Formats: sequence, C-alpha cells, structure tokens
Amino acid sequence: MCKFLALNTSDFIYTPTNKSVEKISFTWQTPSNIALVKYWGKSNPQIPKNASISFTLNNCHTITTIDFEKKSSNNIEFELFFEGKKKDDFKPKIAKFFERILAYCSYISEYSMVINSENSFPHSSGIASSASGMSAIAMCLMSLEKVLNPTISEDFFNKKASFLARLGSGSASRSIEGPLVVWGEHPEIEESSDLFGVKFPYKIHPVFENYQDAILLVDKGEKQVSSTVGHNLMHNHPYAENRFKQANENLSILSKILQNGEIKEFINLVESEALTLHAMMLTSNPYFILMKPNTIEIINKIWEYRAENNSNICFTLDAGANVHVLYPENEKDSIDQFIKDILSKYCQKNQYICDVLGFGPKKLQY
Ligand code: PMV
Repeated sequence: MCKFLALNTSDFIYTPTNKSVEKISFTWQTPSNIALVKYWGKSNPQIPKNASISFTLNNCHTITTIDFEKKSSNNIEFELFFEGKKKDDFKPKIAKFFERILAYCSYISEYSMVINSENSFPHSSGIASSASGMSAIAMCLMSLEKVLNPTISEDFFNKKASFLARLGSGSASRSIEGPLVVWGEHPEIEESSDLFGVKFPYKIHPVFENYQDAILLVDKGEKQVSSTVGHNLMHNHPYAENRFKQANENLSILSKILQNGEIKEFINLVESEALTLHAMMLTSNPYFILMKPNTIEIINKIWEYRAENNSNICFTLDAGANVHVLYPENEKDSIDQFIKDILSKYCQKNQYICDVLGFGPKKLQY
C-alpha cells in the first residue's frame, strides 16, 4: 500500500536558490468560501481544534496584484492599495502576516512589494474578505517562489499557498482549491492536515454540482465581536471539547452525504452546524449574539418555504448576521424568485449576492 508522506512545518521553509529576478508582478483571483462544518476554536499558530469543510465560492472573490522589486535592505517593505486607494489602516494586519510567514518565505524581505487589491463583493458587506484576501496574497508570493525555485510541484505550490494563507486567517487555508476543501487532520480524509487545506478527495454526488449559495446581506455593519476574540473564548468554554468532537463526527457524516447525495441529511447537518456555531457564541463567557432579528426571520421563512414546497432549500451562517441560502441547481428558478420576492425584504437595502460553487484561484494575465 502506498502511504503519502505527511508534510511538516519545516518542509515549507524556503531554501534560497541561485536564481534571482529584479522586477516581476503577479495577479491572482482567489475566492471566498463558506464552511459547512465550522472551524471555531484554535491553538497557536492557527492550528484548528477540529477539522472543517467548506464550499468554495465562485463570484465572491478578491483580485490582487503584487509588484515585486528587488531592493538592497533586508526588511519587510510594502505599500497597500485597496480599490485604487492607499489603505494604511489595513497595513498592520498584513504586516503581522508577513512577519509570521517570513520564516517560510525569506525572499519577501529582499523585495519591496506594492499590493493592489479589490473585492468583487461590496466592502464591509459582512462577507469575510480575509479568506479571499489572504489567499490571494499567498498565491502571489508562491508565484514568486516558483520563479526563484522552478522545481516546486503544483501540489507543493498549492499546499504551501494554503499553509501561508492559514497563518493570515484560518479559513483562508480553504480558499486555495475547489469545489470543496477540508482543513484539519481527520482520519477519514486522506492527506488532511492541520497545516493546510486539501481538496475533498472523493467523488461528489451530482446533486451537489453547481450548488447555489445566495448570500443575504442582513447587516453590513462592523461585527461587535471579531472572530479572533470568538475563537479565543472557546479556550474556557464549558462545551468546547464536545463541540470539537461533534464537528469531527459531523465531517465523517458529511463526507458520506456528499458522496451518496442524501440531500435531506445534508440539510439537517448543515443547519445544525450553523446554529451550533452561534450556540457556542451564546454560551461563551462573555456571551455575545451576532445574529439579528432579520437573521431569525429569514430562517423561519426558509423553513416555511421548505415545508410548503417540499423543497431542498437550507441555510448556513458565518460569524455574522448574514444568511447563506444553499440550494441545488434544479431548484434555482423557483428559489431565486422566492429570495427576490420574500427574503430580500429582510436584507439591508434589499441586497443579496447570488453565488455558486467554484473551482478555486485563477492566475490572471495582464
Ligand atoms: O478564519 P477566521 O479566523 O476568520 O475564522 C472563521 C470562522 C468561521 O468563519 C466562523 C467558520 C469557518 O470555518 O469558516
């Protein structure tokens, strides 16, 4: 039997080569993702307490260009532009990220970097931009690494990109491939690792092909509690250990559902995961609520619609008030109409974004 060789942290340390490049630019488009089995709780450095799995999105993405220029000083130097404007308030987060990954990408201190980024979704819409944003930077860095060391394989390229993205934001590790990515070591998912995300390795039932995700923008304001604070509150949480165990068990169950197409079981598991994530927030100390009254209204409307129409519509939630409405492609017309006529009334300015399963990052050429 051929057993894969597990990669360790030290395998991701870049060894300098004799190759050099003076000036080069790369542009990547990388997607956002939405977890079905949630990651909530971690240890240092960004090691998840349980395995998680997500749908990679298609339309919600970040496009990032990094212009690299060789310099003589040996420090991290970068400028940041977001949607064409200088964005110094985003800089500390990116600076921290670069410091964290310097041990694995020593070349970043040899170049001055100009980062230009834009999102396809409205800024501060409550859609996590850190997953697509961090993964886009990671892909640009790996493109430079590939020029400096052309021997690296595509598999290593993706794994290291995910490894780096993870150090920026845990869920970003799942934005490197599609349509389904697992992050966190799990006995039933081959090659799964706490260090990086891997593509779900089994054949997915056709019912999940082109699965739809309409993101209802219930509250576009700043979250009262950041996900960093939320993750930390799992350290002294009375239900934490059971939650981590349950998530790993749910991933085993979901892995089978994704292969056999049991859509009713999918609905049950995915909605339970969403509410459990928020139950962890409600039972943290200090406790907090990220759902809004309209989040609950929407959930009730989805349940009503499902019962009345024998539909396979369901929802999931991220760490916020927005609702992700999930449904199979064969119900697209009727559910799109339902969202337009009924659910959009509960959204800020009636806004929502229609998305669909995607296949991961794209390298763009200009
Ligand atoms: O990647 P972070 O640190 O922003 O955490 C994200 C956690 C959730 O979005 C709530 C769940 C998940 O698995 O994506």
